[in-house]
Amino acid sequence: LIAGPCSMVMFGVTGDLAKKKLLPAIYDLTNRGLLPPSFGLVGFGRRDWDDDRFAEYVRECVQASARTPFNEDVFEQLRGGLRFVTGNFDDKQAFEHLTEVVGELDRTRGTGGNHAFYLSIPPSAFPDVCEQIANSGLNTPRDGSWRRVVIEKPFGHDLQSARELNDVVEKVFRPEDVFRIDHYLGKETVQNILAFRFANQLFEPVWNANYVDHVQITMAEDIGIGSRAGYYDGIGTARDVIQNHLLQLLALTAMEEPVSFDAADLRTEKEKVFKAVELPADLSLHTARGQYVGGWQGGELVKGYLEEDGIPADSTTETFAAIRLDIATRRWAGVPFYLRAGKRLGRRVTEIAVVFKRAPFLPFRDTDTADLGQNAIVIRVQPDEGVTIRFGSKVPGTQMEVRDVTMDFAYGSSFTEESPEAYERLILDMLLGDPPLFPRQQEVELSWKILDPITTFWAESMTPSPYRAGTWGPETAYEMLARDGRTWRRP
Ligand code: BG6
Repeated sequence: LIAGPCSMVMFGVTGDLAKKKLLPAIYDLTNRGLLPPSFGLVGFGRRDWDDDRFAEYVRECVQASARTPFNEDVFEQLRGGLRFVTGNFDDKQAFEHLTEVVGELDRTRGTGGNHAFYLSIPPSAFPDVCEQIANSGLNTPRDGSWRRVVIEKPFGHDLQSARELNDVVEKVFRPEDVFRIDHYLGKETVQNILAFRFANQLFEPVWNANYVDHVQITMAEDIGIGSRAGYYDGIGTARDVIQNHLLQLLALTAMEEPVSFDAADLRTEKEKVFKAVELPADLSLHTARGQYVGGWQGGELVKGYLEEDGIPADSTTETFAAIRLDIATRRWAGVPFYLRAGKRLGRRVTEIAVVFKRAPFLPFRDTDTADLGQNAIVIRVQPDEGVTIRFGSKVPGTQMEVRDVTMDFAYGSSFTEESPEAYERLILDMLLGDPPLFPRQQEVELSWKILDPITTFWAESMTPSPYRAGTWGPETAYEMLARDGRTWRRP
């Protein structure tokens, strides 16, 4: 499917996300022939740039981060539709200029009156931008054309602010024209969770409380907060990635089979999971919070969180979070879902491990099965994308000794097709007006409902425990699982 004629106005085009992900993704889509030759891209920002300077910037970003090879002809095609508008987010005149530029693209390049507004900006800037878009009438389509808005997380910092933010956006755009990006849903391996579960007969019969002991969802990063102090401090890991990415992974892992893969059916099933989530009665025992201190990581001596540029020396923001959640349904009663995420951990890895109960009886002598762990299905979201199944197998030899082995599926060796980058997929879907991969407001609110009691409890009663950079989080995280007689997997 190729997007029809359209243009995109990008706010925050000089920000980190645009530079590393959005602009390269737009180039890659152009290069793969998935954007129409008429595509237009308007950067909006404070810099005093003309179109040429903007084009130079886009070229630099593309050359640094695009996944497909740089091709001068392809870039020239994109280049023809690049425009830059200088202005502040509350500058009426700048938005009048923007309206002219967008109209000019419609007339000269043939973008057909279809315009997407990408808000790659802090939520605090949404009200100004939305108001100006409305004032200039840019949100109102004419003659069967469309107007859409794309918003990036954080969608608020709690339930209340998420609602307020949504009101701001939905005052100007119709709910069906709001596309909320959770880039994890754009990842190939995340979409594969539903194929893995529902395209096969093998797994679903055991995917429930009769056979599953617990589920561990890990999103570990080796990087620190880099230059993102302004965004990260006061937000922390739980709001940054658990509210969205990890809860989405939980929903896809736990949900019932949707009636279809239409947006409404899919979202309905995910929302049922969120509604059934129960928090532990004692959050002090079943959650953990950490903050990294300096240490050696990958042969490099790295700073602690409190020494990072722009972080107050007494910050109590967590850079690691672990939470136990239960799902009150017949399928999952009694099966804890352990979620953990953090910065400056042992290595970068995101995975979902479904860990099975032990066999009710082992007809082997005790000593022979000492090394036998629990069966597990591990969905390797990234890197090294694939699925691992762990089970016991006889060790070759004259004795009946059983030991864990693994069976692997790896994208790299099973497919020749390359996985599109998450942002390529999401930008294309948005331009096509295809909503299944975008959470609706209801989902966002339900996930804040899960998280709010935890962050409130943390703010009042739990300061983060230190953990050394390059390790797997604070002691408290291990203690949390030990209380349940379990241990974290070492990815
Ligand atoms: C973002 C978070 O949503 O996801 C970042 O704000 C995090 O803090 C990033 O680094 C990780 O994304 P990925 O795709 O590299 O796992």
